[in-house]
Amino acid sequence: MKIISVVGARPNFMKIAPFIHAINRYNAINEDRIEHILVHTGQHYDDRMSKTFFESLNIPDADINLGIGSGTHAEQVGNTMIAFEQVLLEEMPDWVVVLGDVNATLACSVTAKKLKIKVCHIEAGLRSMDMDMPEEINRLVTDRLSDLLLTPDKMAVDNLVKEGVQAKNIEFVGNIMIDTLEEHREQASKIKIEDIIRENKINDTEYQDALKKEFAVVTLHRPSNVDNEKVFVALVNFLLNEVTTQMEIAWAVHPRAEKQLKAFGLWNKLISNKRTVLLHPLAYHDMLRLNMGAKLMLTDSGGLQEECTVLGTPCLTMRWNTERPVTLKEHGGLSVLVGNNIDRIRKEFEVVYNTQTQPVFPELWDGKTAERCLNAILRFEM
Ligand code: UD1
Repeated sequence: MKIISVVGARPNFMKIAPFIHAINRYNAINEDRIEHILVHTGQHYDDRMSKTFFESLNIPDADINLGIGSGTHAEQVGNTMIAFEQVLLEEMPDWVVVLGDVNATLACSVTAKKLKIKVCHIEAGLRSMDMDMPEEINRLVTDRLSDLLLTPDKMAVDNLVKEGVQAKNIEFVGNIMIDTLEEHREQASKIKIEDIIRENKINDTEYQDALKKEFAVVTLHRPSNVDNEKVFVALVNFLLNEVTTQMEIAWAVHPRAEKQLKAFGLWNKLISNKRTVLLHPLAYHDMLRLNMGAKLMLTDSGGLQEECTVLGTPCLTMRWNTERPVTLKEHGGLSVLVGNNIDRIRKEFEVVYNTQTQPVFPELWDGKTAERCLNAILRFEM
């Protein structure tokens, strides 16, 4: 069997690592080896957004890099399709495996399907019901085309069934990203926070005792938060004027957020704030370590909502909806949707600040999902 897996952007890397390791384990004990080709579309290209993840998560170098880079959504998707079609015509795999909801996921599933190659979507069935999110469009199209839909939770199965997907094409396998978290949890716990600061800080400040007491971790990158000046200015003012009076902030700044902070004249204000540590995009283990030590997380990331849940760190999710409802408080998780309304963020911040939380493990978030994904592919019959 020949499988091509596709990665494009940062959140894909922690999902592909355990899948590749599962293939390697299979090949070590079976004669009918799986031939695996890893394709990187190149949507995320900075070392800090891509290369460090390959190294630290033991992902082999991509066999093929399409070098797509930045651009509008149509440019990213269109250029990926053109380049990926050539790869498929040369390799003609049995399966194309796509992950998550980034532009590479959409582009490569469409390209494969048009060449009548079977598509497996890992992390299928998630729905935010928000068509303003590019990721929702990517999820919908990919799931509509996929032959094998592997879901992280049962609510995702229900979504697919409601959309008319046949039960034989769906399998509930659990959350593959948690495989990576469990594999690296111990190693991350040994990292010293002062080393993370020294190696990743953006400004020249000599931090002596930073992040030794309570701190919040901040990550933001969604256009709905960082591209709107009014929203982003209000958020940054809230962080600097209110959150820092109660705890320090560690902010790992995404390239899109950095660009907008500079455009809106917020950058110098942040850099000079003594209670805020601005960091470059962090390597996987460093982010995990900060997440473990944080009092709370303020984020608009999809993956961090899930990681917070199993680490026991409460999460204020700066969105109005989520495609990952199992992480929400009302479903037993630790995340609260606060959107970008400052009154709401302030209120939930106080609640979370005064509440003790414990880790929560949704069903099959057990570190063994990759094995189940590979078995589902091997068992699949049209
Ligand atoms: C993408 C994903 C999103 C994911 C996020 C995590 C899509 C539609 N979105 O959004 O689901 O949560 O990644 O990081 O696929 N840039 C760099 N260096 C890089 C990568 C990007 O400077 O290595 C810059 C780009 O030039 C661009 C901006 O960052 O201006 C945003 O990158 P883009 O690939 O458009 O999407 P993300 O916002 O990262």
